[in-house]
This record gives sequence, C-alpha cells and structure tokens, in this order.
Amino acid sequence: MVILGIDTSCDETAASVLENGKILSNIVYSQSIHKEFGGVVPNLASKDHEKHIYNTIIKAVESASISLKQIDAIAVTFSPGLISCLLVGLNFAKGLSIGLNVPLIPVNHLEGHLCSNLIDNYKIDMPYLCLLVSGGHTQIWIVNSAGDYKILSTTVDDAAGEAFDKGAKMLGLGYPGGPVIEKNAINGDENKYTFSIPKIKNNPVNFSFSGIKTSLYYKIKNMNQSEIETEKKHLCASFQEGILNILFDRLKMVIKGNDIRNISIVGGVSCNKRFRLLSEKFSKNYNVNLHFPENQFCTDNGAMIAMSAYLKNNINSRDNSSLKVVPIPNVKI
Ligand code: KG4
Ligand code: ZN
Repeated sequence: MVILGIDTSCDETAASVLENGKILSNIVYSQSIHKEFGGVVPNLASKDHEKHIYNTIIKAVESASISLKQIDAIAVTFSPGLISCLLVGLNFAKGLSIGLNVPLIPVNHLEGHLCSNLIDNYKIDMPYLCLLVSGGHTQIWIVNSAGDYKILSTTVDDAAGEAFDKGAKMLGLGYPGGPVIEKNAINGDENKYTFSIPKIKNNPVNFSFSGIKTSLYYKIKNMNQSEIETEKKHLCASFQEGILNILFDRLKMVIKGNDIRNISIVGGVSCNKRFRLLSEKFSKNYNVNLHFPENQFCTDNGAMIAMSAYLKNNINSRDNSSLKVVPIPNVKI
C-alpha cells in the first residue's frame, strides 16, 4: 500500500510517500515569508502553498523513487487549520486523486500528530498517552488504538508553541519562536526569572499559557533595549523552563490518575532539546517511558498524515469529491 500524504494546514507545504507504514520520502517546504511579521499571515501562507505544492509533491514522489501511477491512495489534512491553507492541499489532492483514479482519504491534522511516533517501526506500544504540543494545540490524549482516541486535557487559551512564538516576538527574535528561544537560551540561567504554573478551575489538567506570556511582558516592560540584550539569554532560558514546567506539571497530574506508562510527546515543541533532556529525568522519577519522534516527524509533515490513513485501514474508493475543509474542529473538554 503506497500512500501519498499531504499537509498544508499552516505554514508548511508538506508531502510524503509511505509504503506499508515505512517512509520512502518526506519533503517539507517551510515558509519563511512570515518571519518579519512574527506569526503566520494566512493569505500569504495560502499563496505560498499554491506556489510550492506542485513541486513539493513531485519531489516527494521522485525521492521515493516511484512513479505517480504507483500511488494507491492520497491522504490529505482537511481539519483543523487555516481555511485558505487547508483548501490548497485538499483541492490539489482531490484533483490528483481523480486524475490517478485512487481513493482520497481525509485526515485530521491532530490525529496525524498523534500517529507521528508510529511512522517507520512503531516506536511505542498502544495504549499510550500522547502530549501534543504544537503552535496551535496543547493537549493530552489517550490513544487506545488507531482511530480510538480520548482527549483528557487541552489549553484554555494559547498553545505552548504559540507562547514560544509570542515570547520571541516580544524579545525581537523573529518567527518561529521555539527554535530561536532554544538557541538563545543555551548559556542562560533558567532560574534567573521565575514563571509560575497556572491553576485551572474546572479541569486542573487543562493548560494555560496566556499568563506566562503576560509575565514575560511585565518582566521586560521597564527594561531598555540594552538591558534586554544583556538579559536575553537568561530571559530565554527562564521562559523556556517556565513553559516546560507547565507541560511536566500537567503530565504528572495525568500520570497519577492513570495506569498507562507509555507516553508519546509530539508536535513542533517536542523538537526542543531541553524538553528532551528534562524528559529523561522525568521518565526515571515517575517510572514512565517517554517517546519523542524524529525531529522531521515532530513539526508538520505529510508522513504523519499518510501514517494515520494507513493505520485506519479503511482505504476504499468512496467518492470524496465533495469533501470540505473544517478549519475549527469541535473539541470540548
Ligand atoms: O507542529 P507544528 O510544526 O505546527 C502546528 O501544528 O502548529 O509546530 C510549530 C510550533 C511553533 O510554535 C514553533 O515555535 C514550535 O512548534 N517549535 C518549537 C521548537 N521547534 C518548533 N518550540 C520549542 N522548541 C523548538 N525547538
Ligand atoms: Zn501541527
């Protein structure tokens, strides 16, 4: 079963080819046009997807050393994401599936992330807990089996990646914020500035990152540019630590009320090296197995979309030509 996976939900034009769950190629074009704005500008993003989707898909097919005719099915993200961006991927996938006469499989982007630790050789056994930390989402799920997911926790405001992005913008570091904050934090003191862990009333395992963002704002409000410059590495290290502390705090809570010992950590923020280092300690202290995907499968990619379609095993030639995008899914806790 050869599946072409396509994702254009945000600012990555991504295509990948998987054969029976094994990776043959994974091509990601990351848009750089948003840097100067400190965040993704939707209409620029969709135009850039239009410009690059054809080449990205052709590259994915060529790097997989297959021909278009060998594709058995096309999996594409239909939700959630930026509406104009989702439309580019979905419409291209529709056209290609009609042209090649192969099934079109709609995939939820979050489900793709949940499956990203399974690409290639199933690095984690089910059931597992999955902490999904990206630019748009911060959630904890139970993955019982492919297609059987239960959400335990979500953010009540910003996502963790969004906090990195907004923090970086405040510090004048550009976009995306996670990698630049991580880089600037390298020789900083993570204890120099304190950021508290928020408490959420209705569901204590839910996340909140608006407070840490505001806290950073007030810490630098009265600093002049040269003070910010001198303190940058400490601010970055402490801010990064503050975000990670919130993530670990909620993980601790969820583990306490659960027997599942396998935990998958996915989404763009899971690339963070400090996160991975602290996880080793966490894993020993709480007797859990933490798994991170390879970096190429943490940030948005087409492989996780193809994998998710492959695992569900319901690939048929249903007519999906009237399939629509769903920018905001209805996930309530
Ligand atoms: O999963 P992803 O590519 O897209 C979404 O589905 O949102 O995640 C992008 C997010 C951005 O907010 C980015 O700042 C963050 O992941 N990110 C990181 C790192 N690399 C990417 N955050 C912290 N440390 C990193 N190394
Ligand atoms: Zn994502």
